[in-house]
Amino acid sequence: METVLITGANRGIGLALARRLLTDGYRVLATCRTPSAAAELAGLAGTGDLEVLPLDVADAAAVDGFAGVLAGRPLDVLVNNAGVMGGPRQSADDMDYAAWAEAFAVNTMAPLRLAQALKRNLLQAARPRVVTLSSQMGALSRHSPGAIAYRSTKAAVNKAMQTLALDWRAEGIVVCPVHPGWVRTDMGGPNADLDVTDCARGLAALIAGLDLSRSGHFLTWEGEEHPW
Ligand SMILES: NC(=O)c1ccc[n+]([C@@H]2O[C@H](COP(=O)([O-])OP(=O)(O)OC[C@H]3O[C@@H](n4cnc5c(N)ncnc54)[C@H](OP(=O)(O)O)[C@@H]3O)[C@@H](O)[C@H]2O)c1
Repeated sequence: METVLITGANRGIGLALARRLLTDGYRVLATCRTPSAAAELAGLAGTGDLEVLPLDVADAAAVDGFAGVLAGRPLDVLVNNAGVMGGPRQSADDMDYAAWAEAFAVNTMAPLRLAQALKRNLLQAARPRVVTLSSQMGALSRHSPGAIAYRSTKAAVNKAMQTLALDWRAEGIVVCPVHPGWVRTDMGGPNADLDVTDCARGLAALIAGLDLSRSGHFLTWEGEEHPW
Protein backbone atom coordinates (compact mmCIF):
# COMPACT_ATOMS: atom_id res chain seq x y z
CA MET A 1 0.00 0.00 0.00
CA GLU A 2 1.40 3.40 -1.01
CA THR A 3 1.33 6.37 1.35
CA VAL A 4 0.36 9.82 0.08
CA LEU A 5 0.45 13.10 1.99
CA ILE A 6 -1.89 15.89 0.86
CA THR A 7 -1.74 19.46 2.19
CA GLY A 8 -4.90 21.56 2.51
CA ALA A 9 -7.05 18.42 2.44
CA ASN A 10 -10.05 19.84 4.33
CA ARG A 11 -11.86 21.29 1.29
CA GLY A 12 -11.73 21.76 -2.46
CA ILE A 13 -9.36 19.73 -4.61
CA GLY A 14 -7.40 18.45 -1.60
CA LEU A 15 -10.51 16.95 0.00
CA ALA A 16 -11.70 15.39 -3.27
CA LEU A 17 -8.26 13.92 -3.90
CA ALA A 18 -8.12 12.47 -0.39
CA ARG A 19 -11.51 10.86 -0.99
CA ARG A 20 -10.41 9.46 -4.33
CA LEU A 21 -7.05 8.11 -3.16
CA LEU A 22 -8.63 6.44 -0.13
CA THR A 23 -11.03 4.67 -2.50
CA ASP A 24 -8.07 3.69 -4.68
CA GLY A 25 -6.41 2.00 -1.70
CA TYR A 26 -3.73 4.47 -0.64
CA ARG A 27 -2.85 5.25 2.96
CA VAL A 28 -3.72 8.97 3.07
CA LEU A 29 -2.02 11.41 5.42
CA ALA A 30 -4.36 14.38 5.07
CA THR A 31 -3.07 17.62 6.51
CA CYS A 32 -5.00 20.80 7.19
CA ARG A 33 -4.73 23.89 9.37
CA THR A 34 -7.47 22.93 11.82
CA PRO A 35 -8.35 19.22 12.00
CA SER A 36 -11.01 19.88 14.66
CA ALA A 37 -12.94 21.96 12.07
CA ALA A 38 -12.46 19.48 9.21
CA ALA A 39 -15.64 17.46 9.64
CA GLU A 40 -15.99 16.40 6.01
CA LEU A 41 -12.42 15.14 5.94
CA ALA A 42 -12.85 13.28 9.23
CA GLY A 43 -15.95 11.67 7.74
CA LEU A 44 -13.76 9.88 5.19
CA ALA A 45 -12.18 7.77 7.93
CA GLY A 46 -14.58 4.89 7.30
CA THR A 47 -13.67 4.68 3.62
CA GLY A 48 -10.02 3.75 4.01
CA ASP A 49 -6.70 4.23 5.77
CA LEU A 50 -6.83 7.92 6.76
CA GLU A 51 -4.75 9.94 9.19
CA VAL A 52 -5.56 13.62 9.68
CA LEU A 53 -2.65 15.77 10.82
CA PRO A 54 -2.40 19.50 11.59
CA LEU A 55 -0.16 21.58 9.32
CA ASP A 56 -0.16 25.24 8.40
CA VAL A 57 2.18 25.26 5.42
CA ALA A 58 2.94 28.96 5.94
CA ASP A 59 4.41 28.11 9.35
CA ALA A 60 8.05 27.47 8.43
CA ALA A 61 8.93 25.92 11.78
CA ALA A 62 5.96 23.55 11.58
CA VAL A 63 6.93 22.47 8.06
CA ASP A 64 10.57 21.94 9.03
CA GLY A 65 9.41 19.98 12.06
CA PHE A 66 7.05 17.81 10.08
CA ALA A 67 9.86 15.37 9.37
CA GLY A 68 9.67 14.53 13.08
CA VAL A 69 5.97 13.72 12.77
CA LEU A 70 6.69 11.26 9.95
CA ALA A 71 9.99 9.99 11.36
CA GLY A 72 10.97 6.66 9.84
CA ARG A 73 7.88 6.31 7.63
CA PRO A 74 8.24 5.90 3.87
CA LEU A 75 6.33 8.47 1.81
CA ASP A 76 5.49 7.52 -1.78
CA VAL A 77 3.70 10.70 -2.82
CA LEU A 78 3.74 14.28 -1.54
CA VAL A 79 0.90 16.40 -2.94
CA ASN A 80 1.46 20.10 -2.35
CA ASN A 81 -2.13 21.20 -2.77
CA ALA A 82 -2.65 24.04 -0.24
CA GLY A 83 -2.92 27.35 -2.03
CA VAL A 84 -4.29 30.87 -1.76
CA MET A 85 -5.26 33.52 -4.30
CA GLY A 86 -3.33 36.35 -2.68
CA GLY A 87 -6.23 38.61 -1.78
CA PRO A 88 -8.62 40.73 -3.83
CA ARG A 89 -6.23 43.64 -4.49
CA GLN A 90 -3.58 42.45 -6.96
CA SER A 91 -4.00 44.53 -10.07
CA ALA A 92 -1.46 46.68 -11.87
CA ASP A 93 -2.74 49.77 -10.02
CA ASP A 94 -3.68 48.35 -6.64
CA MET A 95 -1.52 45.72 -4.95
CA ASP A 96 -1.79 44.30 -1.43
CA TYR A 97 1.87 43.48 -0.86
CA ALA A 98 1.29 41.71 2.47
CA ALA A 99 -1.19 39.35 0.81
CA TRP A 100 1.28 38.77 -2.03
CA ALA A 101 3.99 37.82 0.48
CA GLU A 102 1.57 35.43 2.19
CA ALA A 103 0.68 33.87 -1.17
CA PHE A 104 4.37 33.48 -1.95
CA ALA A 105 4.90 31.69 1.37
CA VAL A 106 1.99 29.29 0.78
CA ASN A 107 2.09 28.77 -3.00
CA THR A 108 5.81 28.94 -3.71
CA MET A 109 8.05 28.40 -0.69
CA ALA A 110 5.99 25.84 1.24
CA PRO A 111 6.04 23.19 -1.53
CA LEU A 112 9.84 23.26 -1.65
CA ARG A 113 10.23 23.50 2.12
CA LEU A 114 7.92 20.52 2.71
CA ALA A 115 9.63 18.45 0.01
CA GLN A 116 12.98 19.17 1.67
CA ALA A 117 11.60 18.35 5.12
CA LEU A 118 10.23 15.01 3.90
CA LYS A 119 13.07 14.02 1.57
CA ARG A 120 14.26 11.20 3.82
CA ASN A 121 10.73 9.78 3.89
CA LEU A 122 10.49 10.06 0.11
CA LEU A 123 13.81 8.27 -0.33
CA GLN A 124 12.43 5.30 1.57
CA ALA A 125 9.77 4.77 -1.11
CA ALA A 126 10.21 2.66 -4.24
CA ARG A 127 8.92 5.38 -6.64
CA PRO A 128 8.84 8.69 -4.79
CA ARG A 129 6.80 11.50 -6.37
CA VAL A 130 6.28 15.17 -5.52
CA VAL A 131 3.20 16.65 -7.19
CA THR A 132 2.65 20.37 -6.73
CA LEU A 133 -0.64 21.99 -7.64
CA SER A 134 0.30 24.88 -9.86
CA SER A 135 -1.92 26.73 -12.33
CA GLN A 136 -2.18 27.65 -15.96
CA MET A 137 -2.41 31.19 -14.56
CA GLY A 138 1.31 30.96 -13.82
CA ALA A 139 2.28 29.93 -17.35
CA LEU A 140 4.56 32.54 -18.93
CA SER A 141 3.27 31.48 -22.36
CA ARG A 142 -0.24 32.74 -21.48
CA HIS A 143 -0.85 36.45 -21.74
CA SER A 144 -3.75 37.28 -19.43
CA PRO A 145 -4.22 40.40 -17.31
CA GLY A 146 -4.71 40.80 -13.55
CA ALA A 147 -4.11 38.49 -10.56
CA ILE A 148 -0.45 39.51 -10.47
CA ALA A 149 0.20 38.00 -7.03
CA TYR A 150 -1.39 34.63 -7.78
CA ARG A 151 0.12 34.32 -11.26
CA SER A 152 3.62 35.19 -10.09
CA THR A 153 3.57 32.74 -7.16
CA LYS A 154 2.52 29.93 -9.51
CA ALA A 155 5.11 30.91 -12.14
CA ALA A 156 7.72 30.86 -9.38
CA VAL A 157 6.67 27.49 -8.03
CA ASN A 158 6.85 26.09 -11.57
CA LYS A 159 10.47 27.17 -11.77
CA ALA A 160 11.20 25.86 -8.27
CA MET A 161 9.70 22.45 -9.14
CA GLN A 162 11.42 22.28 -12.54
CA THR A 163 14.75 22.89 -10.84
CA LEU A 164 14.01 20.53 -7.95
CA ALA A 165 13.23 17.80 -10.50
CA LEU A 166 16.68 18.22 -12.04
CA ASP A 167 18.44 18.39 -8.68
CA TRP A 168 16.75 15.26 -7.31
CA ARG A 169 16.64 13.19 -10.52
CA ALA A 170 19.77 11.23 -9.67
CA GLU A 171 18.16 10.21 -6.37
CA GLY A 172 15.09 8.96 -8.20
CA ILE A 173 12.56 11.48 -6.91
CA VAL A 174 9.94 12.51 -9.49
CA VAL A 175 8.83 16.15 -9.28
CA CYS A 176 6.02 17.72 -11.34
CA PRO A 177 3.98 20.91 -11.17
CA VAL A 178 0.41 20.19 -12.29
CA HIS A 179 -2.43 22.40 -13.53
CA PRO A 180 -5.61 20.84 -12.12
CA GLY A 181 -8.01 22.45 -14.60
CA TRP A 182 -10.43 25.25 -13.75
CA VAL A 183 -12.30 23.53 -10.97
CA ARG A 184 -15.54 24.33 -9.11
CA THR A 185 -14.20 24.96 -5.59
CA ASP A 186 -14.17 27.98 -3.27
CA MET A 187 -11.17 29.21 -5.25
CA GLY A 188 -12.33 28.28 -8.75
CA GLY A 189 -15.89 29.54 -8.19
CA PRO A 190 -19.24 28.17 -9.41
CA ASN A 191 -18.66 28.94 -13.10
CA ALA A 192 -15.52 26.84 -13.45
CA ASP A 193 -15.35 24.11 -16.12
CA LEU A 194 -14.61 21.07 -14.06
CA ASP A 195 -16.27 19.17 -11.25
CA VAL A 196 -13.91 18.56 -8.36
CA THR A 197 -14.58 14.80 -8.47
CA ASP A 198 -13.52 14.60 -12.12
CA CYS A 199 -10.42 16.65 -11.33
CA ALA A 200 -9.52 14.27 -8.50
CA ARG A 201 -10.03 11.25 -10.75
CA GLY A 202 -7.61 12.71 -13.29
CA LEU A 203 -5.05 13.67 -10.67
CA ALA A 204 -5.24 10.19 -9.13
CA ALA A 205 -4.57 8.54 -12.50
CA LEU A 206 -1.67 10.91 -13.08
CA ILE A 207 -0.20 10.19 -9.63
CA ALA A 208 -0.52 6.44 -10.15
CA GLY A 209 1.44 6.45 -13.39
CA LEU A 210 4.04 9.15 -12.79
CA ASP A 211 7.68 8.15 -13.20
CA LEU A 212 11.08 9.73 -13.87
CA SER A 213 10.43 9.96 -17.61
CA ARG A 214 8.07 12.88 -16.93
CA SER A 215 9.89 14.44 -13.99
CA GLY A 216 10.38 18.19 -14.44
CA HIS A 217 7.46 18.47 -16.86
CA PHE A 218 4.53 20.85 -16.33
CA LEU A 219 1.48 18.60 -16.69
CA THR A 220 -2.29 18.96 -16.74
CA TRP A 221 -4.74 17.03 -14.55
CA GLU A 222 -5.29 14.80 -17.61
CA GLY A 223 -1.60 13.96 -17.83
CA GLU A 224 -0.90 16.12 -20.88
CA GLU A 225 2.03 18.48 -21.28
CA HIS A 226 1.18 22.07 -20.31
CA PRO A 227 3.18 24.80 -22.04
CA TRP A 228 5.39 26.66 -19.58
N1 LIG B 1 -9.83 25.63 -8.33
C1 LIG B 1 -9.17 25.90 -9.43
O1 LIG B 1 -9.79 26.20 -10.47
C2 LIG B 1 -7.67 25.87 -9.47
C3 LIG B 1 -7.05 26.11 -10.70
C4 LIG B 1 -5.67 26.06 -10.77
C5 LIG B 1 -4.93 25.75 -9.65
N2 LIG B 1 -5.56 25.52 -8.44
C6 LIG B 1 -4.72 25.20 -7.30
O2 LIG B 1 -5.17 23.99 -6.71
C7 LIG B 1 -4.93 24.01 -5.29
C8 LIG B 1 -6.23 23.73 -4.55
O3 LIG B 1 -7.18 24.71 -4.96
P1 LIG B 1 -8.71 24.69 -4.50
O4 LIG B 1 -9.49 25.16 -5.65
O5 LIG B 1 -9.05 23.41 -3.84
O6 LIG B 1 -8.69 25.87 -3.40
P2 LIG B 1 -9.65 26.14 -2.14
O7 LIG B 1 -10.96 25.51 -2.37
O8 LIG B 1 -9.57 27.60 -1.90
O9 LIG B 1 -8.89 25.35 -0.97
C9 LIG B 1 -7.61 25.77 -0.61
C10 LIG B 1 -7.05 24.81 0.41
O10 LIG B 1 -5.72 25.27 0.77
C11 LIG B 1 -5.68 25.36 2.19
N3 LIG B 1 -4.72 26.34 2.67
C12 LIG B 1 -4.60 27.64 2.37
N4 LIG B 1 -3.61 28.21 3.07
C13 LIG B 1 -3.07 27.21 3.82
C14 LIG B 1 -2.02 27.15 4.76
N5 LIG B 1 -1.30 28.25 5.08
N6 LIG B 1 -1.73 25.96 5.34
C15 LIG B 1 -2.44 24.85 5.03
N7 LIG B 1 -3.47 24.85 4.17
C16 LIG B 1 -3.78 26.03 3.57
C17 LIG B 1 -7.09 25.74 2.60
O11 LIG B 1 -7.25 25.50 3.97
P3 LIG B 1 -8.26 26.42 4.90
O12 LIG B 1 -9.61 25.81 4.76
O13 LIG B 1 -7.66 26.28 6.26
O14 LIG B 1 -8.19 27.81 4.37
C18 LIG B 1 -7.86 24.80 1.70
O15 LIG B 1 -7.87 23.50 2.24
C19 LIG B 1 -4.34 25.38 -4.99
O16 LIG B 1 -2.95 25.29 -4.94
C20 LIG B 1 -4.78 26.21 -6.18
O17 LIG B 1 -3.93 27.32 -6.41
C21 LIG B 1 -6.91 25.57 -8.34
